Amino acid sequence: MNEHDNPTESSNKVPKGMTAFFILAIIFVVGYVVLYTPAISGWSYYKIFEKKMADVQAVASSEGAKEKQSFSGDEAAIAEGAEIYASSCAVCHKVDGTGGIGSNLTAELKFGDSQEELYVSVAEGREGGMPPFKQQLSETKILKVIAFMETLRK
Ligand code: HEC
Repeated sequence: MNEHDNPTESSNKVPKGMTAFFILAIIFVVGYVVLYTPAISGWSYYKIFEKKMADVQAVASSEGAKEKQSFSGDEAAIAEGAEIYASSCAVCHKVDGTGGIGSNLTAELKFGDSQEELYVSVAEGREGGMPPFKQQLSETKILKVIAFMETLRK
């Protein structure tokens, strides 16, 4: 017998499970389209991108804020900075900072005298013969030396 000719075929019921699946699939597709269409939901990869960038910047600026911790005027820190200066820097910059091989630290500074600029000068070095100290000195120690250098400039 040819089953296409079977007149009972059209009266077969679709299994309930299939109907339910079909409806759920439609709901899912509609929901998906609504959720991820920028014009409808406002969803956008740019927003995710911007949020990630903002997160990165927040971390970066909190590190920056940590770098800005200042020992300016802190006598104990300045005394420690003076010791570090005497052993690591005075060879080139002289004990009083007036310079020799290294530049005069009491005069106007070529690379700037803000804490951040000084930090770069000391940690990263400068091309004209200033060696980088970030391997030898911790961040805290560099900041203490900077606090000491401020006293040379007053
Ligand atoms: C080997 C010699 C040498 C030593 C050691 C040295 N410096 Fe220097 N430093 C230099 C020279 C040379 C320059 C000038 C670099 C330039 O003009 O490009 C310089 C530049 C600098 C500057 C930038 C000055 C400006 O005009 O902006 C700072 C700040 C500085 N040194 C701080 C320090 C500190 C703090 C230490 C110790 C932790 C130190 N230096 C150790 C040779 C030295």
